[in-house]
Amino acid sequence: MAKEKIVLAYSGGLDTSVAISWLKENYDAEVIAYTADLGQIKNKKVIHDKSLATGAKRFYLEDLREKFLKDFAFKALAASALYEGKYPLISALSRPLIAQRMVEIAREEKATALAHGATGKGNDQVRFELTFKALAPNLKIIAPAREWEFKSREEEIAYSKKKKIPISVTKKNPYSIDRNLWGVSIECGILEEPWKEPPEDAYQMTVSPKRAPNKESYLSLEFEKGIPIKINGKKYQPVALMEKLNKIGGENGIGRIDIMENRLIGIKSREVYEAPGAMILYNAHDALERLVLDRETFHHKRLIAERYGQLIYNGLWFSPEREALEKFIAQTQKRVSGSVRVKLYKGNAIVVGRKSPYSLYQKDLATYSKEDIFDQKSAQGFIDLFGLPLKIMAPARKKKK
Ligand code: ARG
Repeated sequence: MAKEKIVLAYSGGLDTSVAISWLKENYDAEVIAYTADLGQIKNKKVIHDKSLATGAKRFYLEDLREKFLKDFAFKALAASALYEGKYPLISALSRPLIAQRMVEIAREEKATALAHGATGKGNDQVRFELTFKALAPNLKIIAPAREWEFKSREEEIAYSKKKKIPISVTKKNPYSIDRNLWGVSIECGILEEPWKEPPEDAYQMTVSPKRAPNKESYLSLEFEKGIPIKINGKKYQPVALMEKLNKIGGENGIGRIDIMENRLIGIKSREVYEAPGAMILYNAHDALERLVLDRETFHHKRLIAERYGQLIYNGLWFSPEREALEKFIAQTQKRVSGSVRVKLYKGNAIVVGRKSPYSLYQKDLATYSKEDIFDQKSAQGFIDLFGLPLKIMAPARKKKK
């Protein structure tokens, strides 16, 4: 009997392939490979066969695409959460879901440990392990990439050859890529030089804006309680909706992001992302909120968005703080229903129109035409009191310090 029975988060890439073999060798373990399809799986049979050929005892592949969007990505969208104001949390949103399912499978399989292929330098290790700790505090956690002796990808490749592990690393694909329906995270290779422009071949989902159509195209998006439900008047289920928006957005070169980013463990890194569909949605959702939310809720929600993004980024999905903020956000979304018109043109998704049954816009108050019903004289008293503290301060400002 094997000493350990380990459920491993498996992608089919180099690190997790090496991990299967390494775990068997170093922990005298039985390895159960677990893969979640979040929109990145091209061929189910290929990854299935590969996991077994690499030495997994069993292989699980689950289609979690809809759950990923409904229970994770759309919640980040409703919150307008972008880490450090820019990153739509593509990888960060996926890890708690994958880890949650791994815990459930570990219970069914009576496994003794959970493992992942994330390195000691990144955020993903934290996201996996905080979820493991929150949901299965008694299961052992193993992170082979933090323990093993390989110093580089080359050494891992050499080990794979020795162990006859099937891998598909080529010189032509020097990037580390993590893709799902919310977008793609791209790292490594030349991207580690912050001054150098990412080469076109780094991009996976978008054409260069230069090669996008020279003509503008229009899109209408309908939201219900903050959730996108229709494109151009036609209803879509979440997966089909994202596939369509990613396609249209990608063709128009929308959603390329190139930033310096502060990782949780303290390293600063250069990150390249593409989120064509998600960035169209962020723009449109924001435009609708600006129409239907009252000023104070809207302003408060912007503060929450920053914190919510940090919590997701830092792996704290299953934390009481995030769960409490989720309730606040859901309350704010009750009237975020309506439509937004977006113009797509060479890398831009520009909002050009918005409407909602819950619109707070009153033209007769805002207008500068003769339909105006606003009592301009009432503003004077408001300014007198709003400005009173400054007026009181004025003599003191004049005094020499
Ligand atoms: N910096 C991003 C994040 O922390 C991207 C992580 C990409 N993960 C990967 N395994 N390639 O979310």
